Amino acid sequence: MKSFTTMKAIAADELERLVGDSCRLRDDIERGSPSEPTLAERCVANLFFEPSTRTRLSFDLAAQRLGARVVTFSPETSSTVKGESLRDTAITVSAIGADILVVRHSDSGAPQAVSEWTGKPVVNAGDGMNEHPTQALVDVVTMTRHFGSVSGLRVVVAGDIAHSRVANSLGHAITVLGGSLIYAAPRQWLPENTDVATTTLLDPAIEDADVVYLLRVQTERGGTITGDYVEQFRLDVSRAARLPEHAIIMHPGPMNRGVEIDDAVADSPRSQVTEQVRNGVPVRMAVFSELARSLP
Ligand code: CP
Repeated sequence: MKSFTTMKAIAADELERLVGDSCRLRDDIERGSPSEPTLAERCVANLFFEPSTRTRLSFDLAAQRLGARVVTFSPETSSTVKGESLRDTAITVSAIGADILVVRHSDSGAPQAVSEWTGKPVVNAGDGMNEHPTQALVDVVTMTRHFGSVSGLRVVVAGDIAHSRVANSLGHAITVLGGSLIYAAPRQWLPENTDVATTTLLDPAIEDADVVYLLRVQTERGGTITGDYVEQFRLDVSRAARLPEHAIIMHPGPMNRGVEIDDAVADSPRSQVTEQVRNGVPVRMAVFSELARSLP
């Protein structure tokens, strides 16, 4: 693997290997075992052109755990404010000595473009409405650790799917690993061309779900709440009570409590939201380690 810009380019065996490596690294972290310094003497540059808490910090910590030097770029304190283009910024960061670039950007395709401009390995940390492949890897690792496997799982993804880069990457990862998927959303938030089953009714969809995966309304990408969305789609205590006893609740974060999920559900024992965050560092370590193999 030269870069990790899309989940769609990952074959099943490669994805299974990344899931296995992530699970082992998570166990190592829990045991307090030292990590192999696969990025010693290397530099990782975090280029986040959009806000982030868990993705940016977990890439940062993952790189540090593997022995890398980490430099972090913020557009508001960089020469971006003086008009420097993304291409010139990427080439500059690469010339300074970055070996791997992590890119979050509002333009779909920006991480792939950075990889072509610089010739360096790039990890997509979220691009526009396109993809968020390491979040999807976090999610399938979380499902695997909970259920033992993604194969055969029935996953309901609910909320603002149309504007969600997470849904795109996650849908592919679940399908490749043998799980099944249904998108539940108001009609305006269902994708027009998709192979995934869709419904506008959440309640019947969740009755035999293994996983209910909730999405935030992506207001920064054009999502707006209309009509009775909150009433029909918010996972509150009474709706969550209709789930099978074994079912888990997931959310990539940040959550908008009281909109797509209620406090009592977000903080309930079946919520895996914090567990998803805990898997963020080992997942990004597994991706970096994979990329390190092809560094010169
Ligand atoms: N899930 C996710 O991408 O969260 P952040 O925006 O906090 O990184």
